[in-house]
Amino acid sequence: MNNQITILLSHPNISNSMFNKHLVDINRKNPNFVFHHLDKNRVNGYFDLEAEKKLLRESKAIVWQFPIYWYNSPSSLRDWQDQIMSPIVYSADNFLKGMPVRVVFTAGAAAEHYTHEGLNRYTAEEMLIPFEMTANAAGMKWFKPLGFYGCSPDMTKAALEKAAKEYEESLLELL
Ligand SMILES: Cc1cc2nc3c(=O)[nH]c(=O)nc-3n(C[C@H](O)[C@H](O)[C@H](O)COP(=O)(O)O)c2cc1C
Repeated sequence: MNNQITILLSHPNISNSMFNKHLVDINRKNPNFVFHHLDKNRVNGYFDLEAEKKLLRESKAIVWQFPIYWYNSPSSLRDWQDQIMSPIVYSADNFLKGMPVRVVFTAGAAAEHYTHEGLNRYTAEEMLIPFEMTANAAGMKWFKPLGFYGCSPDMTKAALEKAAKEYEESLLELL
C-alpha cells in the first residue's frame, strides 16, 4: 500500500478500553490505516526488530496512540522506542528520517486541567515534549498532537462518533 499510515497503539487493557477501542474500531476499514497493537506484539517484553522494521518501511506516516497513564504513554510504546527506534536511528540507514509522526492521546482529565492555571499545571503539549524531542532526534516530521479529554466510560455515542471523525481527518493530514 502506498499511503499507509501505521497506528502504533499502546494500550495494556484494550478489552476494557472505551475510547481508544472505539477510535480504532470505527476507523478499522479505512484503506490507509494499519493498526498495530504494541502490547500484543511483545514476547517476554521484547519486540521482533525485523518485523517492526518491515512494518515501518511500508509506512508513509506513523501515529503513536495511547491513553495517558501518569502523564506519559503506557510502557509498550516506551519499550518500542527503546528497542526499535534506537537501532534504526543510530544506524547508517535511518529510514525514519522525514517520516511524519503524530501523537493521538486520550486523557481522563478535562482540558481545563491541562493548563498553567489548572490542576495539572502544564499543557498537554508540554507533557508530550519528550515525544517531540524523540521525533526530532530521529529526524522525523512532528505534527501537533491530537488529544481527547475527559474520556470516561459514560461518553455519549454522539461524542465518540464526533471524535472518530476528527481522528480520521487528523490522521489523513499526515499524507
Ligand atoms: C494507570 C492509569 C493512569 C492514568 N493516568 C492519567 C493521567 O496521568 N492523566 C489523565 O488525564 N488521565 C489518566 N488516566 C485516565 C486514562 O487516561 C483514561 O482512562 C483513558 O485515556 C481512557 O481511554 P480508554 O477508554 O481507551 O482506556 C489514567 C488511567 C490509568 C488506568
